[in-house]
Amino acid sequence: MGLAARRAAVDIVEAVTDRGRRLEDVLEGELASGAASALIAKDRALVRAIVGTTLRRKGQITDALDRLMKSSLPAKAHRLDHILAVGAAQILFMDVPDHAAVSLAVTQAVAEPRLRPFKNLANGVLRNLGRQRDTILADQDAERLNTPDWLWQRWRKTYGAENAHHFAAMHAIEPTLDITVRSDPAGWAERLGATVLPTGSLRLVPSGPIERLDGFDEGAWWVQDAAAALPARLLGDVAGMRVADLCAAPGGKTAQLAAAGAAVTAVDISAARLTRLEQNLARLGLAAEIVAADLTDWTPAAPFDAILLDAPCSATGTVRRHPDLPWRRSGAEIDSLAALQARMLQRAISWLKPGGEIVYCTCSLEPEEGEAQIARFLQETPGFERRPIAASDIGGLTKPITPDGDLRTLPYHLAADEPRLSGLDGFFAARLRRL
Ligand SMILES: C[S@@+](CC[C@H](N)C(=O)[O-])C[C@H]1O[C@@H](n2cnc3c(N)ncnc32)[C@H](O)[C@@H]1O
Repeated sequence: MGLAARRAAVDIVEAVTDRGRRLEDVLEGELASGAASALIAKDRALVRAIVGTTLRRKGQITDALDRLMKSSLPAKAHRLDHILAVGAAQILFMDVPDHAAVSLAVTQAVAEPRLRPFKNLANGVLRNLGRQRDTILADQDAERLNTPDWLWQRWRKTYGAENAHHFAAMHAIEPTLDITVRSDPAGWAERLGATVLPTGSLRLVPSGPIERLDGFDEGAWWVQDAAAALPARLLGDVAGMRVADLCAAPGGKTAQLAAAGAAVTAVDISAARLTRLEQNLARLGLAAEIVAADLTDWTPAAPFDAILLDAPCSATGTVRRHPDLPWRRSGAEIDSLAALQARMLQRAISWLKPGGEIVYCTCSLEPEEGEAQIARFLQETPGFERRPIAASDIGGLTKPITPDGDLRTLPYHLAADEPRLSGLDGFFAARLRRL
C-alpha cells in the first residue's frame, strides 16, 4: 500500500534536486500524465505532502542520514539517496509508521537492479533513524540546516542571524491558501470557512482541490498571497484610469486592477504565462488589453495614468510556497536580475504621465532587488519622488513599512496563534511619483 505514491515522490524529488526543475511544473506533469496520474486523491495529497516535507526539511534530512551512513553511496546508486530522503522525511516529520516508511523504501531499492545490493543498508539506516530520531532532531539547528549556505549568508548579512532563523522557521511550515475576493470578503469568508486578514485577503485551509471550492467557477476570487495583493492596492483608487501592469502574468495583480475599474494594459514576455493570464481573467469575467512583449524594447502608444511594475526577481520571498527554490538557485543570478530591474524601471517611468504614480515591486528579500534598487533610482533620477506608504494603505499594518516609507513584508509577518495561519511572502514595494 502506498508504494506508487512513494515512487512518484522519489521521481519528483529527483527531478527537482538533480535536474533543477521547478517543483510546481514537475508536480503538475506527474499528477496530470506521469506516474502519479493514476493515484486516487488521497495518495496525490500524500505525494504532495511527502515531497513538500522532503524539500522543506532537506538540510535536516541530509544531516541525519549523513550521521548514520559510514560513507557516501557510489554514483550509480545515487537514486537511493532520494529514496532514503523520502523515507527519512516520513520517519522524522510525518505521521507515517516507521515500519511502513522503511519497508516501502526497501521495496523500491529491491525493485531496481542497481540499488538491490544496497537493500540491507537502506533497511539498517532507516531503522536506525527511527530509533535515534529524537536524539538527532534535538541536536540539530533545523533552521540553519534547512537553508542552503548562499541564502543563509545573504539573510544573515542583511537581516541578522535571529531574523534568518525566523524566516527559515516559517519556511518549514506549509502555508495555507490566500485568496483575493472581488467583493464581500466577510460573506465569502463565512461561505469558505476563511479568516479575513487585516489587508482584505482571505486565508483558509482548503479541504480539497482549489477548483472545487465555492465561488471558483463563478469567478468570485483568485489565488494570491496576502503580500502579493498589497502592491496593486498602493496605487489607490484606479477606477477609470489607464493603468499599465508590467510583467503581468499570470495576472493576480491585473485582476485586482481590472476589478477596481481600471483600463489595464497587461504586458509580459511569456506567451505561455499570458495564456494563463487570459484564462484567469476569463474565469473572473474581467478584461484587459494583453500585450506579449519584451519590456526592454516595447514602447506603448500613449502614456499611462499609473503603472505597476512587478519585475522578474530571485523570488527569495516566496520560499514558503516554493520550498524547492533555495535548492535550485545559487544567488549568482541576483546581480543580473537587479540590472534588468533597473533597466525596466527606467523605461517604465518614461511611460508615466506627469503627476502619475508607479509602484515597483519584487517578491524578493534581497536588498539589491528592493531597497538598494530604489535608493539608487532616486539618487540618479531627477523628476521623481517617493510617496511613502502609510499603514492605512495596507490595512493598518505597521511592521511592513520601512523607515524610508517602502513596503517590506517578511515571512514571519502577520503572526497568528496557529503557525499554519501565520506568515506572508517576502515582498518589497516602493511608490514613486512623477513630478
Ligand atoms: C513576478 S512575475 C509576475 C507576476 C504577476 N505580476 C502576477 O501578479 O501574477 C514576473 C514576470 O515577468 C515576466 N518577464 C520577465 N522578463 C520580462 C521582460 N523582459 N519583459 C516582459 N516581461 C518579462 C515573466 O514572464 C513573469 O511573468
